[in-house]
Amino acid sequence: MKNCLLAIESSCDDTSAAILTDGKIQSNITANQRIHEKYGGVIPEMASRKHQQHIIPVVAAALDEAGVEKKDLSAIAFTRGPGLIGSLLVGVSFAKGLALSLDIPLIEVNHMQAHVLAHFIERPQPRFPFLCLTVSGGHTQIVLVKDYLSMEIVGETIDDAVGEAFDKTAKMLGLPYPGGPLVDKHAQKDNPHAFQFTEPSIPGLNFSFSGLKTSILYFLRDRLKEDDWFIKDNLGDICASVQERIITILMNKLKKAALEYEIGEIAIAGGVSANSGLRKAVEQTGKELGWNTYIPRFEYCTDNAAMIAMTGYYKFLNKDFVGHDIAPVARYRF
Ligand code: KG4
Ligand code: ZN
Repeated sequence: MKNCLLAIESSCDDTSAAILTDGKIQSNITANQRIHEKYGGVIPEMASRKHQQHIIPVVAAALDEAGVEKKDLSAIAFTRGPGLIGSLLVGVSFAKGLALSLDIPLIEVNHMQAHVLAHFIERPQPRFPFLCLTVSGGHTQIVLVKDYLSMEIVGETIDDAVGEAFDKTAKMLGLPYPGGPLVDKHAQKDNPHAFQFTEPSIPGLNFSFSGLKTSILYFLRDRLKEDDWFIKDNLGDICASVQERIITILMNKLKKAALEYEIGEIAIAGGVSANSGLRKAVEQTGKELGWNTYIPRFEYCTDNAAMIAMTGYYKFLNKDFVGHDIAPVARYRF
């Protein structure tokens, strides 16, 4: 064994640990926090406390599943940001403590870069340069990926992230957090053209989702005035129509980026890339326009430590280590 990394992810509400040996993922264990469901969003203080409870058993399970002992580790990679500062602090402090006790180096990882590099966990892998639409709870980006660690954001949201648009829609419909997967589920069989929501006209490759959120709010308010049962009776059609609009906004910008950069290697990443409608749209558009499309397996779409390990691996090869004075950062651009 040439190298063996432990990776830790704790940027939001999932505590995750992974083991990678010689570039291959051996284990990827995630503990979810259900405590936020009833609040309609993540409560930062509760998230940090849950990370503290989860981190030791999650790391132990990752080591155990990989058949690796602590003494075998060559380095520890951790998410430095972006994310909730209290949540990040738990992972960063744990990584530092363990690295100090084992006398091994630390590798800091940008969470958004890691979402992109999730594509290198398995095959087929995109070829450089490729475009990655990274869609998560906090970010919406079109990234020009020139190499493993050389990326440029060429388009991004100017207000809400797309995951937020899904989660806020779900909240307005009375669905628990995180609402994205539930909107997806209720959208499955119903009519995506039942209701029309406007597409914002934002120049270039940037996105905006706050107008859509407001138009959904007003739409529901007006319909509920006439009919108390409107949401209950039309849940599937509302979810399908909102999802359809979100997907067309994303796809139109992605097509524009592909044209502008003359790139046909197209990937999606981040929690919202688990959305069944988006996955289908990317595949279908890819067929129409002759793109090679790359869609991660579900477990590598939402937050996971395997993607942190993969990024850590490329940094390890460059001996890109950090000192113990490193601190987490809530905002972190690559
Ligand atoms: O990447 P991620 O796990 O965490 C962040 O880095 O934010 O993304 C979480 C987001 C949440 O907003 C969640 O509702 C959304 O991804 N999401 C989905 C689906 N699965 C997760 N949104 C739409 N459809 C899904 N199937
Ligand atoms: Zn994420």
